[in-house]
Amino acid sequence: MKEGLKIVTIGGGSSYTPELIEGFIKYYNELPVRELWLVDVEEGKEKLEVVGNLAKRMVEKAGVPIKIHLTLDRKEALKSADFVTTQFRVGLLEARMKDESIPLKHGVLGQETNGPGGLFKALRTIPVILDICREMEEVCPNAWLINFTNPAGMVTEAVLRYSNIDRVVGLCNVPIGMEMGVAKLLEVDPDRVRIDFAGLNHMVYGLNVFVDGVSVKDQVISFINDPKKSITMQNIHAMGWEPEFLKALDVFPCPYHNYYYKSGDMLEKELKNYQEGGTRAEVVKKLEEELFELYRDPHLAIKPPQLEKRGGAYYSDAAVRLIHSMYTDKCDIQAVNTINKGAISSIPFDSAVEISCIITKDGPKPIAVGDLPIQVRGLVQQVKSFERVAIEAAISGDYATALLAMTINPFVPSDRVAKVILDEMLDAHKEYLPQFINHRLG
Ligand code: G6P
Repeated sequence: MKEGLKIVTIGGGSSYTPELIEGFIKYYNELPVRELWLVDVEEGKEKLEVVGNLAKRMVEKAGVPIKIHLTLDRKEALKSADFVTTQFRVGLLEARMKDESIPLKHGVLGQETNGPGGLFKALRTIPVILDICREMEEVCPNAWLINFTNPAGMVTEAVLRYSNIDRVVGLCNVPIGMEMGVAKLLEVDPDRVRIDFAGLNHMVYGLNVFVDGVSVKDQVISFINDPKKSITMQNIHAMGWEPEFLKALDVFPCPYHNYYYKSGDMLEKELKNYQEGGTRAEVVKKLEEELFELYRDPHLAIKPPQLEKRGGAYYSDAAVRLIHSMYTDKCDIQAVNTINKGAISSIPFDSAVEISCIITKDGPKPIAVGDLPIQVRGLVQQVKSFERVAIEAAISGDYATALLAMTINPFVPSDRVAKVILDEMLDAHKEYLPQFINHRLG
């Protein structure tokens, strides 16, 4: 790679962008970013300008020579990129509102990355990421694609299996959040914590947890029974766990496991929130309005602390740490989404898994774990089956395949309910689902 990197961020108008800028500023000496291109679509133009101008003020105040470019011309931006990061949301927050509220109306969990919401986010996003890959092939075939766009596991797998880009890594803040949570809980420096992660995105387990190489898994498991000590994220309500259940599970669940092991309680909570003021999308909409109000202030030149109310905590650390390790061939261990290649024997060879990897200049090398423990293996396989069928539906636009994906999702109680939700969501999102036009009626 040449001196100084060219980074392109697609979905650059996102309210999370200052998080990324903060990371690039903080690590500038080790990761010399020469130019950062923030790209967005016409609908996101105003946000791109507001965030982009804040980004320019941030680098200026920090005194680092990163040149920020703002553009709506994606292909032009991609030319000769070293790293392309993706953080876009097809259909903006309005689409998220539908993803979260339509399933709830039918008594099914409304979560934007899992369940019917996750399915529809995948159906809208996968064709777009594949377009981006085609452009990358043409104008920056050697770049690495670092995908943050949710559902990150499915989007990464779609790239791995259905594009010619194999230099792709999917990244989520859940693993780093779990490590930070353990550090806080045990009052130790985060550098001393290591978790052996394995599973899927938003379905990842800590198979073991270490401080200075000594296992503290049992201690962590006994602590997180208490909702006050729960390791969770801003977007997920902490409830604590039944102590005997967690002890018997014998692995460290991620915050998203609340939706699978406490489905009824989470549904009740979501329905209550929905009736009282709206889903998480509505909360995020208000937060975004506040954030953009702050971002517009010409005197603001740092990431405002209010951004911490979003679920993406440590996102900049995770992103910059990954890019830095790839750039410097650091060979440290980080958990990312990558091709399984047998690292988890109960998951298909060519699927994306979220797993601890050695991060090298040639990409992540997963650390093999063999079979997952029997008590979690079935759920992980079930969710992977859902993901594979969902990806197939996103590509083919086939109604029956989409219905199959919806029905086999663990949140959905029957084929009948699946069909009702599917039909309503296909209609609500039709603008962003051109691949379904001819298949609408099966
Ligand atoms: C967590 C997840 C992210 C997700 C975010 C949503 O951090 O790991 O994948 O994007 O929550 O947060 P939000 O503030 O948008 O609800």
